Amino acid sequence: MGKDVHIRSIDPEVVRWIDDFKPPGVSREEYLRQVIEAERRRVFDPQASLFSTGIDPVRIFGQLPFRFIDLFAGIGGFRSALTKLGGTCSYTSEWDKYAATTYEAWYGERPDQSDIREIEYDTIPDHDLLAAGFPCQPFSLAGVSKKNSLGRPHGFEDEKQGNLFFSILDIIDAKEPPVLLLENVKNLKSHDSGNTWNVISEELTDRGYRVFHQVIDASAWVPQHRERIFIVGFRSDVFDEETTSRFRFPRPPSQGPLFGSILESDPESKYMLSDKLWKYLKDYRRKHEARGNGFGYGVAQPDGVSRTMSARYHKDGSEILIESDGWRNPRRLTPREAARLLGFDERYSSIFGHGSEFPQVVSDTQAYRQFGNAVVPKVVEAVGAEILAVMSAAVHSTGSGCLLKGQTAMSGSPSVADAA
Ligand SMILES: C[S@@+](CC[C@H](N)C(=O)[O-])C[C@H]1O[C@@H](n2cnc3c(N)ncnc32)[C@H](O)[C@@H]1O
Repeated sequence: MGKDVHIRSIDPEVVRWIDDFKPPGVSREEYLRQVIEAERRRVFDPQASLFSTGIDPVRIFGQLPFRFIDLFAGIGGFRSALTKLGGTCSYTSEWDKYAATTYEAWYGERPDQSDIREIEYDTIPDHDLLAAGFPCQPFSLAGVSKKNSLGRPHGFEDEKQGNLFFSILDIIDAKEPPVLLLENVKNLKSHDSGNTWNVISEELTDRGYRVFHQVIDASAWVPQHRERIFIVGFRSDVFDEETTSRFRFPRPPSQGPLFGSILESDPESKYMLSDKLWKYLKDYRRKHEARGNGFGYGVAQPDGVSRTMSARYHKDGSEILIESDGWRNPRRLTPREAARLLGFDERYSSIFGHGSEFPQVVSDTQAYRQFGNAVVPKVVEAVGAEILAVMSAAVHSTGSGCLLKGQTAMSGSPSVADAA
């Protein structure tokens, strides 16, 4: 691409944007040239990857052309956030047909719907970052107590779901991604007296990853308490210790949005609880309160934050009810409100060409289930930005703009050193 970019005729709004983002010492023209070049590479060279090709370090001030895979993708909380950060998704796995339908409608690509345990891992494209919010029922408090009461195994002993972590390990063995970003329920850390967590962290460490983890409450970004553990791993043969020691989990914004901000002004009356269900929930709460248990429905206040929306919300909506003037009984969230409560809003829908809201393409029941399972993209974006800071630092420290060492991650791809 030629060097001549003249910004005289460019919209002042765009010029302001350039000034906000360009690093000191880089001219507007050079910055714009880099952004255009990065985009051209993304469009015309789908194999371009931060780790496969030498990159002029100045380009990383545009967008890091990193590639990621989205495992246990659900409705793509990782996909939304990592795309917003400049990543390109090269593979998606999700076996649930309803989630796959939503994913395709939102992101324009149907996930691989095979059981992840049966995929030929070598066929997964090379990637810089592996993202996975692996199924959490075997580890969550609700999941464990339900399984205990049914006399079923839980955690890794849960043959059906608990061993899915080992599928992630198999993919790591086959593909050696430089960065891992995993998410699960908070209870993962304490499950089975800490043994589950010990296995996870030892398995990752044994594979050469430096592992960081933190429980993050999404309530700083969305009006919902949603505590999840985030696990980040950097391969030590790609990132040196000094660079990874700079990694920090994000500092939450001091004031998150309030529950009232996600409410629709004129929701349909079908979202009001029936008299029968409302009576059932009140009786249930009374019974449990009498036994000294705090379980029961929760009414969210507009000036506060709601409880955690679970995958069973479609059953009775009991954890997040809303009282409205003129309504006989409380109502549940509409699917649109649920989307906003998880933070699937214009910030992400607009980059996939959906305007201000992602469309609802499945039944209300499936939509609630999908949102109840999802990761909050804004939290992923905040964690991802910290990961990218480490990647950027690593790209700088190589001097060549290439992180690839030997055959790591992208076997066969030429490194800058080879090309020189
Ligand atoms: C906790 S949810 C992840 C949600 C996702 N992070 C999001 O933002 O929507 C786990 C997902 O894993 C999928 N899943 C469970 N077992 C699977 C398997 N064996 N193969 C492929 N997908 C599976 C489920 O259908 C579910 O959508």
